[in-house]
Amino acid sequence: MSARLIDGKAIAEQINAETAAAIVRLKTERKITPGLAVVLVGENPASLAYVSSKDKMCARLGMHSVRINLPATTTQAQLLAKINDLNSDRTIHGILVQAPLPSQISEEAIFATITPSKDVDGFHPLNVGKLALGDETGFAPCTPAGVHQLLIRSDVKIEGAHVVVLGRSRIVGRPVSLILSQKSSNANATVTVAHSRSRDLAGVCRSADILVAAIGVPHFVKADMVRDGAVVIDVGINRVEDKTIEKGYRLVGDVDFAPVSQKASLITPVPGGVGPMTIAMLMHNTYRAAVNSIAS
Ligand code: GUN
Repeated sequence: MSARLIDGKAIAEQINAETAAAIVRLKTERKITPGLAVVLVGENPASLAYVSSKDKMCARLGMHSVRINLPATTTQAQLLAKINDLNSDRTIHGILVQAPLPSQISEEAIFATITPSKDVDGFHPLNVGKLALGDETGFAPCTPAGVHQLLIRSDVKIEGAHVVVLGRSRIVGRPVSLILSQKSSNANATVTVAHSRSRDLAGVCRSADILVAAIGVPHFVKADMVRDGAVVIDVGINRVEDKTIEKGYRLVGDVDFAPVSQKASLITPVPGGVGPMTIAMLMHNTYRAAVNSIAS
């Protein structure tokens, strides 16, 4: 079988167009412009690239955005003070602190300080708890929510499917497993969370109708780990050295794309698969945070 590509760019554009239209209505009917603050500590090149694409998308969709660049030497107390300012800023509805943070700062402490109603990343313990409970008033993390939308909008039947999530991170693997196992006609999957310590990892992956690779290792998923006709979602964005191109690296996923696409029925490319969905869901969450601010 030769796989059909899931076009994450096109699906993200669809969602962005919906968000932009909803923002126009919010501005005209309620005089509210959604505002997002993105905080970057240090100068990690991948983080710099993500943060500027978030800025550009805010401008495109008619959102207010504030970018805060802090030096790599910033202390935890200084960052907490900045977050407290943003928590009380009425023009800001969503706050995102780009991970990873320098080692002197505890990510847990930072994420727990962002007001839950502005936590558009969905990393605050209250939002993690709401996701676990199936309470849709919280915010789901953007990449997992993007994976869910890719499946729904590609007409993949999730209900009853065996989903294997490869990776158990707080940002991707664990929340993907919570979303897809939710009691809902858009979910209802049987989910296995597999990881580096799983016994017979290849065999577990082969039992998947839908395989979500989020393990952070370039080309980890080989063709013999994928069942014929499986749906493969590649969350990996890994920079590998490539001296033949000007920037010196290229982006590859966690899936060995060429051979795996000979077995899968549907597969996401890297880049152009899950990546654009993360930003689209961030914009959607920020719009929702602005709407919620009306009632509060
Ligand atoms: N670093 C990599 N992915 C993410 C994300 O979704 N949110 C934040 N805040 N940092 C990240």
